[in-house]
Amino acid sequence: MCRSSRDIMSDDEYEPSRERGGPVAVRKADHLRINLEDDVDAKGVASGFDAYGFQHCALPELNLQDVDTSAVLFGRRLRAPVLISCMVGGTDHAGQLNATLARVAQALGLAMGLGSGRVLLEDPGALSTFDVRRLAPDVPLLANLGAVQLNKGYGVDECRRLVEAVGADALVLHLNPLQEALQPEGDTTFAGLLRKIEAVCARLGAPVVVKEVGWGLAPDLVSALLAAGAAAVDVAGAGGTSWSEVERHRIADPWRARVAAAFAGWGIPTAECVREARRASPRALIFASGGIRDGIDVAKAIALGANLAGIAGPFLRAAARGEEAALDLGRELVETLRVAMFAVGARSLDDLGGTPRLRRRDGTMDGPHLARYTYRTAHAGQFLDITGDVAEVVRSSGVRHGLAHVYAMHTTAAIRINEDEPLLRRDFHRFLERLAPAGPGLYEHDDLSRRPGLPADEPRNGHAHCRHLLCSTGETVPIVDGRLDLGRWQRIFLVELCSARQRTVTVQVFGR
Ligand SMILES: Cc1cc2nc3c(=O)[nH]c(=O)nc-3n(C[C@H](O)[C@H](O)[C@H](O)COP(=O)(O)O)c2cc1C
Repeated sequence: MCRSSRDIMSDDEYEPSRERGGPVAVRKADHLRINLEDDVDAKGVASGFDAYGFQHCALPELNLQDVDTSAVLFGRRLRAPVLISCMVGGTDHAGQLNATLARVAQALGLAMGLGSGRVLLEDPGALSTFDVRRLAPDVPLLANLGAVQLNKGYGVDECRRLVEAVGADALVLHLNPLQEALQPEGDTTFAGLLRKIEAVCARLGAPVVVKEVGWGLAPDLVSALLAAGAAAVDVAGAGGTSWSEVERHRIADPWRARVAAAFAGWGIPTAECVREARRASPRALIFASGGIRDGIDVAKAIALGANLAGIAGPFLRAAARGEEAALDLGRELVETLRVAMFAVGARSLDDLGGTPRLRRRDGTMDGPHLARYTYRTAHAGQFLDITGDVAEVVRSSGVRHGLAHVYAMHTTAAIRINEDEPLLRRDFHRFLERLAPAGPGLYEHDDLSRRPGLPADEPRNGHAHCRHLLCSTGETVPIVDGRLDLGRWQRIFLVELCSARQRTVTVQVFGR
């Protein structure tokens, strides 16, 4: 898979750019130094993970040794769902850090991303600073390039060369419009990029991951990128390393530095990005990065819907202290995740992803704002008023404006909105009885002799199914100012059309 540096760019294939290695490498060295020496954290915006806590499970009904933190990414097994996120390359110091991080990734079974390979495309001599596959032969290794380069003359051929040169399993394209806008020398031609990303996804022959760099991917972009063929997205939200802060430290002009400073609190918090991305794309491969700082954050990211948690700044600083420090950070992350899974009763990452034990600390609920109620009905013709339960889901969701959908998972029990007046309820029942009366010989469905394989207690309820046709399985109610926007006399009923039964009703709340 790996080709020599000569193969990356032979001179006849390569259109030299104005910068050709030098200034890009200098900028990379600046970025690295600033990340190691200065305060580059976002300010005024947090990753959002602190807003959540796990409800402790004192009886996990599993043994710690059976907790399985493993995952598979791009066909390779990980011992934990952790990515040492894309960071550096292009300078000797970066090369040393990449080598340290690669050894850590291999030792602990973590995925690893490389920094932007533009410098490598422009200067094949820089390969040694990215060339870590031999140190991490078994882990998923991700090459990286700024997506904006697709508007600067690079295309699928350069992407492929980059992936092959470093022996990567996938290519990460990063979106960093704000960073480029704040750099005096930045590339800000972002028009028409989605189509070009789509072309790379279609033709690269390796999976493409699209990520932000610390300001987050909004859910509509997640959907658009996945529709364009991205194999995964890394939401890379706000709350961790802030690239406006990094750039601020590089800028000499005081007024330009103040422009950069204005964006210290910019971006979508990572926890929000992950939650919304998962809602937008229930089956997509989603990475979370941006301000993930310990194993509990990793667990929360997974519980909110991520498949993998990326950590950049902390690994960089640990690797700068030495391999043992970076190994310790990795061990600490994985062990904290494992114990957290034990303490919420999650045997696997799938269990953790579906845990109901992640709670907002302020008592509101999020996730898909889904609640499931079970009712025991008393008799046919019962109109059970469930308005209070639906209102409770809306209240706890924190949604101010949106829709609540109430759905009965049955074919002989319905959801209807009408007035809760005792005589009227009897009228409804008689009305349905007139339209679909019960009685022997009226419904083919009740001829059990013609329906082989039925259980012994199969009811003769053709009338109930036919009455259900006149009703509905669900109702949708607007939410305005955090409340169900029902008319004065409107109530939400679960209507029993058959006989005393256990019934399940799902309430799902959508909105903001
Ligand atoms: C020193 C450094 C260099 C980075 N370089 C890149 C890069 O070349 N490409 C990229 O996609 N993201 C890059 N990032 C962004 C990270 O991959 C990550 O998405 C972001 O920093 C948020 O993670 P953190 O808060 O854990 O640092 C870099 C981050 C750091 C700290």
